Amino acid sequence: MNGAAHAGRVVALVPAAGRGVRLGENLPKAFVELGGAPMLVRAVDGLLESGAVDRVVVVVPAELVEHTASLVPEEVDVVAGGSERTDSVRAGLAAAGDARYVLVHDAARALTPPQSVAAVVAALRDGAGAVVPVVPVTDTVKAVDAAGCVTHTPDRSGLRAVQTPQGFDAALLRTAYDAAEGIATDDAGLVERLGEKVTCIDGHPLAFKITTPLDLVLARALVAPGE
Ligand code: C5P
Repeated sequence: MNGAAHAGRVVALVPAAGRGVRLGENLPKAFVELGGAPMLVRAVDGLLESGAVDRVVVVVPAELVEHTASLVPEEVDVVAGGSERTDSVRAGLAAAGDARYVLVHDAARALTPPQSVAAVVAALRDGAGAVVPVVPVTDTVKAVDAAGCVTHTPDRSGLRAVQTPQGFDAALLRTAYDAAEGIATDDAGLVERLGEKVTCIDGHPLAFKITTPLDLVLARALVAPGE
């Protein structure tokens, strides 16, 4: 890989346009507060603090674009998302301009350390086309059928739980989205469908996804008030 291939702008997309009200709070999940700051804002701050991201594009429901712009630093772009997550990522990609690399990061992984973001970008600059941070799976995982009966038990040593930010060569991710059919919850999965290699790097326990009320209790305990 020559030197030129390592250069180029990094744009991070934060799809947060889901309207789903979960976590027992009366707000879209990304706007739920952790120690005085919405999860979305903490996630954006982590991206900016990594020093590895040139631009952040946040994707939110159309009616929350103005409100979100008042919450995030001025240099952050805020665009309206679509009805499915894939539509929202596409809206983010459309706003990503001349990005050489694109990260896609869950707002719900609000406590992701900046070093983890920088590690994903470093792997991209080393030549990987797609990078996912992963952690070992601690529970045994069962595959089940529609009736809830176990069909098989995959070998746990060969499984990993995937975090974000997931990182991509921008052209590869655009190709993957152009080819995408149906709904994808995982951007790297679309790259895999193209037959392209996806590289795993070590994730971080603090990059856990804040999904359940219990996760929120943990996240709030980890964030000192006013921090
Ligand atoms: O619903 P789920 O947790 O899978 O959503 C994953 C992420 O995708 C969330 O951050 C959510 O806000 C975002 N999303 C989106 N646009 C949608 C639906 C979900 O940006 N239409």
